[in-house]
Parts: sequence; C-alpha cells; structure tokens
Amino acid sequence: MLWNTRESYGLITRLFHWGIALLFFALFFVGLYMGELDKTDPLRKQLFALHQSVGMLVFLLTLIRIPLSRIQPEPMPPSHMGPWEVQFANAVKKGMNLLLLLIPIAGYLTVTTKGYHPIFFGIEMPILIGENEELHEFFEETHEFLAWTLMAIVVLHMAAAWKHHFIDKDDVLLRMLGRKRPE
Ligand code: HEM
Repeated sequence: MLWNTRESYGLITRLFHWGIALLFFALFFVGLYMGELDKTDPLRKQLFALHQSVGMLVFLLTLIRIPLSRIQPEPMPPSHMGPWEVQFANAVKKGMNLLLLLIPIAGYLTVTTKGYHPIFFGIEMPILIGENEELHEFFEETHEFLAWTLMAIVVLHMAAAWKHHFIDKDDVLLRMLGRKRPE
C-alpha cells in the first residue's frame, strides 16, 4: 500500500524514512572523513562536492516529506504508551525534521561565507551570504554541533525502536519495515 493507514506506514513513508536515514549516516561519516584528508588530496575535493550535493538532496527530501506526512493519517501509538510518551515521541520527530533542515542550511552557508558556490550534482548554487571569516567560523561550528546533536538523537531514537521491538514486543519497529507481528 502506498499511503499510511491508522494501522500501518505506507510505502512512500517507509521509502522516505529509510532513504533519509541512510543518507544521513553516509553524510555524517563522509563529513568527518573528508575533513581529515590532506588539502592536496584530490579525493577531498570530490568528497566535499558529493557531501554538499547529497546534503542538499536531504534538505529537499525533508521539505517534501514534512507536508506528505501531514496529509496522511498517522498510525496509532500502541495502547501501552502513556500520553506523555506519545507527546515526547512526537516532539523528538519534530526536532529531527528541524535539524534535517537546519544542518544543510548551516552547511550551505559554511561554503558561501568562504566565498565558494555550493555544488548540487555539478550545478553551481547561488552565494546567499558572501565571504565573511567570522560568519564562516560560526556556520562551520553550528553545522558540526547540529550534526552531532542529530546523531545523538538518532542513537536514542534507535534505542527506543529496539525497546519497542524486544521489550514491549509491539509493532512500532515492524510497521516501519512494512511488516506485522504474527497474532
Ligand atoms: C543532513 C545533512 C548534512 C549532514 C548530516 C552533515 C554532516 C556533516 C558532518 C558530520 C561534518 C563534519 C564536521 C566535523 O568536522 O566534525 C560535515 C562537514 C561539512 N559539511 Fe556537512 N552535513 C550535511 C549537509 C551539508 C550541506 C548541504 C553542505 C553544503 C552545501 C555541507 C557542507 C559541509 C562542509 C563544507 C563541511 C566541512 C566543514 C569543515 O571542516 O570546514 N554539509 N558535515
């Protein structure tokens, strides 16, 4: 089924969820690795361009995903979850979406404040805020800090999914995989 129901996530939601998750992990580790490479290493330039392109793609996918999830029904939380747990889970989801928008924006401005055009799969993007060393350092540190914050939240999010699966033995993780626990 393409669309969510009150019981399960549709294919569109699942593809966006796992696609963005995969791209986030790739961006995070490539981001750490590329910074360690020698400035003369040609791989550094290639990875920077790839990181920027995929980062902007995640920004676009998140911009599409937010309204798409708003217009679909949200599967019901399992009955054992209290109202505060449901509220907390919703706040965490909103926080992750916000960070998936803010991290690419900070990355974009890190590039432009150094005087470069960000590259989106070979296309030069506009310089929104031009060369400025102080702002460059600010956006660079913000980009790094927000990326680590999101990684910390993602690790907690994964721990929560495993708790649902192995301890509560409910369908929360399975339904994001398009499956159900046998009756
Ligand atoms: C969700 C999207 C993104 C994630 C998770 C992400 C993550 C990261 C991480 C973890 C680093 C390494 C930080 C460190 O040195 O500790 C990094 C570096 C960097 N990212 Fe991103 N990034 C994203 C999007 C973008 C975008 C869209 C751009 C630019 C258009 C960008 C530009 C950069 C640049 C230039 C650096 C190197 C900073 C430096 O060391 O000078 N990033 N990113």
